[in-house]
Amino acid sequence: MSNQPQSMGILILAAGRGVRMHSAKPKVLQSILEEPMVYYPLRAARDAGFENIAVLVGYEGELVEEYIKREWPGVEVIWQHEQLGTGHAVKSAEHWWKKFDDLLVLSGDVPMVRSESLSEMVGIFRSSCLGAAMLSFVADDPSGYGRVVRLADGGVRIIEESDASVDELRTREINYGVYLFNTSALSAIINQLTNYNSLGEYKITEAFQLIDETESDVCVITCKDPTEFVGVNTPNELAMASGELKKRILDEHMKNGLKCMDPQTTWIGPRVVTEPDVILEPGVQIWGKSHISDGCRVGAWSTLRGVRMEADSKVLGLSVISDAVIGEGGEAGPFAFIRGNAVMKAGAKVGRFVEVKNSTLGEGVKALHLSYIGDTIIGRGTNIGAGTVTCNYDGVKKNTTIIGEDCFVGSDTMFVAPVSIGDRAITGAGSVITKDIPDDALGIARGRQANLKDWSARKSLGAKQKRGEEG
Ligand code: UD1
Ligand code: CA
Repeated sequence: MSNQPQSMGILILAAGRGVRMHSAKPKVLQSILEEPMVYYPLRAARDAGFENIAVLVGYEGELVEEYIKREWPGVEVIWQHEQLGTGHAVKSAEHWWKKFDDLLVLSGDVPMVRSESLSEMVGIFRSSCLGAAMLSFVADDPSGYGRVVRLADGGVRIIEESDASVDELRTREINYGVYLFNTSALSAIINQLTNYNSLGEYKITEAFQLIDETESDVCVITCKDPTEFVGVNTPNELAMASGELKKRILDEHMKNGLKCMDPQTTWIGPRVVTEPDVILEPGVQIWGKSHISDGCRVGAWSTLRGVRMEADSKVLGLSVISDAVIGEGGEAGPFAFIRGNAVMKAGAKVGRFVEVKNSTLGEGVKALHLSYIGDTIIGRGTNIGAGTVTCNYDGVKKNTTIIGEDCFVGSDTMFVAPVSIGDRAITGAGSVITKDIPDDALGIARGRQANLKDWSARKSLGAKQKRGEEG
C-alpha cells in the first residue's frame, strides 16, 4: 500500500422528483428552516472536512444546479438526464468518482445527517479495507425501506419492499441508503447492474450482492441514532425534520451562551450566528445568514432574515427586518419594517410603524414614528419627524433623497425625490419638498394658514336660517 492518504469523493443523489411531496419543486429544494433540503447533507459533508463533493441532478435539475452554483462554490454538479434508479444514478457519475480511491454516497433527502457520523463511518470503512459498506438501523417500523437480509455465509443482501418475500418483510433491519465503496470494486461491477425487478430500476443496492460475490468484502455498519438518516419523502416528514433540526440548532446556540426565553416558539436557521450574550424573547424567528452580536436583544414575535445586529443593539417586538444592518447600540421597533439593503449606523433608531428600504441612516439618526424612508441617505444626528415620507417612486423609476447631517425634518414632510437637503437644514411640518434646500436653511412649502374671524358663530346662524328658524 502507498503512503498517500486515500482520496474520497462524496456523491449526493438528488435527481429524483420526490412524487410523495406533491410539489412541482424538486424534493431536495423543499425548504427546511428556510434552506433547501440539500443544504443539510452538503453542510454535513463540508463540516466533516470532505473536499470532493458532487450533487447528482436530474428532475428540474436546472433549479438545483442554479442553487449549487450560487451557494456552494467548489461543489460539482453532475447530470443524470433520465432517472432509471439509484444504481443508474451512481453509474452516471462514474467519470467523476473513478478518480478517487473511495466513494461515499448520500441522498439529498437526509437532512438530519451529522458530520460526526460521516467521519465515523469513513473511519470504520478505511480501517477494515472493505469493498463496500452500508449503513443500517433496526427500526420499529421498517415499512418503506429496503430490508437488510443477512445470509448464512456472512454475506448481506438488500431487498426492496416490493421484491421481498413475506419472511424478508419481517426483517426489521433497514437500509438507510448511505453507502461507502472502494471505487475499483465498484467500477468492476457497475455495468452488471440489472433492472430485472418489480420496479424495472437499476438499483445501487444490487451492487452489494455483486461486490460480495467478488473477493472484496461488504459490511453493514449499524447506526445508533434512529433519526439521523431518516429520508424525508412527504410533507409530514418535512415538518418533522424541521422540528428536529430546529431543536438541534437552538441547543447548539444555548450551549454557546444564547439566552432563549421560549425554545418552543423560537426558530433559528442553520446559517445564523449568535454571540454568547444574546437574549431572544418568545416567538422570534431568525433566518438566512444573520449575525447577532454580544449584548443584543430581539423582541417578541420579530422576524429577522439576513440581518447583522452589531453589539448592544435591540430589536423591539413585532418587527420584520431583512437584508439589513443595525449598528452598535441601535434600536429598531416595535412594529418596524426594515428591508432591502438598509443600513443603520451606530446608535440610529427606527421606531413604531416606520418602514426603511434601501437606505443608509447615519450615526444617531432618529426616525421614531410612522414614516417611510426609501432610497435615502441620511447624515449623522438627523431627526426625522413623525409621518415623514420620501416619495421615491415617480411612477417610472425610483429616485434618491439625500438628507444632510444634524437636520431637523418637521413632521409630515414629503420629500419628492430626487431631492437633496443640506447639513443642519430644517423643514417646516407638513411641507412638500420638491426643491433642494441649502445648508442651514429652513425649507417650508405648504399653504399659508388663514383664520376667518367668528366663523363658527356665522356658520351656525347660516344653518338656522336655512331651516327657517328665527335668528
Ligand atoms: C432507497 C433504497 C432503499 C433504502 C432507502 C432509504 C434503492 C433501490 N433503495 O429507496 O433500500 O431503504 O433508499 O431511504 O436504492 N435518485 C436519483 N436518481 C434516480 C433515482 C433516485 O438521483 O434515478 C435519488 C433520489 O433523488 C433520492 C435517492 O436517490 O435522493 C434515493 O431514491 P429514492 O427513490 O428516494 O429511493 P427509496 O425508494 O427511498
Ligand atoms: Ca428516499
